[in-house]
Amino acid sequence: MKGLIISGGKGTRLYPLSYTRAKQLIPVANKPVLFRVIEMIRDAGIDEIGIIIGDTGPEIRSAVGDGSQFGVRVVYIEQDAPRGLAHAVKIAHDFIGDERFVSFLGDNVIEGGIKDLIRQFADSDWNSQIVLKQVKDPSRFGVAALNDDGSINHLVEKPADPPSDLALVGIYMFDSNVFTACDSIEPSARGELEITDAIQWLVTNGYTVFPYVHPGWWIDTGKAPDMLEANAYVLNEIEPTIAPDAQIDDDSEVDARVVVQAGAQIINSVVRGPSIIGEHTVIKDSFVGPFTSIYHNVTIENSELSRCIVLEHSRVLNIPQRIEDSMIGRQATLKMDTRKPRALKMNLGDYTRLWLPPSNG
Ligand code: DAU
Repeated sequence: MKGLIISGGKGTRLYPLSYTRAKQLIPVANKPVLFRVIEMIRDAGIDEIGIIIGDTGPEIRSAVGDGSQFGVRVVYIEQDAPRGLAHAVKIAHDFIGDERFVSFLGDNVIEGGIKDLIRQFADSDWNSQIVLKQVKDPSRFGVAALNDDGSINHLVEKPADPPSDLALVGIYMFDSNVFTACDSIEPSARGELEITDAIQWLVTNGYTVFPYVHPGWWIDTGKAPDMLEANAYVLNEIEPTIAPDAQIDDDSEVDARVVVQAGAQIINSVVRGPSIIGEHTVIKDSFVGPFTSIYHNVTIENSELSRCIVLEHSRVLNIPQRIEDSMIGRQATLKMDTRKPRALKMNLGDYTRLWLPPSNG
């Protein structure tokens, strides 16, 4: 089998973080989501992976390279514009050839691997296998209605009035009949060739599409709150480790569920897990609470953070209130300024959002 990762698109819903960076490269628990997807496909025994790229292709190419750092071979397939997931599958035809393949959206994070699913599909004679998950807000996704015997009745993309609470997870397995399906469908109302319509075409035309309902968690990291949620789930699962050259002084308290990466320094601070402190990051006179990922080369001084993602080379200095449920991008500075006039001063990027508590508490 081969793997196809769909990793183009613009990621406007993750602005401003995805303004200057491919959204699939934003880290969850200090590892880009796309790297997690590559490792999952590799761990399922697939070593040939095609990656669909768009405008952010150069950044993805330079981060992933030829795939050797993951022990796989990667080829890139350029999509001229985000014309839909079925369009992305269609342009991968030359790469896939006649093989069975798994297609994975580069911004999806799922509990556990996909090893068993892939093996099940590889050994079956099904034409396709899709993954479903019960969700609270099905209108945000493709939705499947099942028959009483568990087979698919029909599929619909982002319905205003969902026929069930079963969302289509961004992991799809196909044989080469999907290329006929992608050639046979028309663009949807939003102008895209929808993968949901291609799968519906397979169902309508008598091909076997097996639905698997995933019992664990799954997050489509489309928006900032989803990213924080995925970060919390993944942190819950990671193995706590302290790099041999990390420095934790005697005045600090680091709980057992914390990962401290190479060269990090924790000085007179409390770090509660699950959380991760990146390479060469300095935490001084501060509190880092659960579900926080601080990436590489960050400085946190005299401040408190909880349930946050902080990206590389940022600084959080002397902030008097605890920062919670927040995402801070690269090279950002947040600091207290004691000079007069006492005013809020900011230099915010496009599409930035700032939430301030009322001044009387
Ligand atoms: O995450 C699961 C959902 O993914 C499914 O439930 C939906 O049925 C499916 O349509 C898709 O919905 P989204 O609205 O989340 O898809 P989005 O446009 O965000 O694209 C998903 C990823 O694929 C994203 O990383 C960008 C990339 N992409 C998207 C399109 C439309 C491409 O590379 N090329 C494209 O043409």
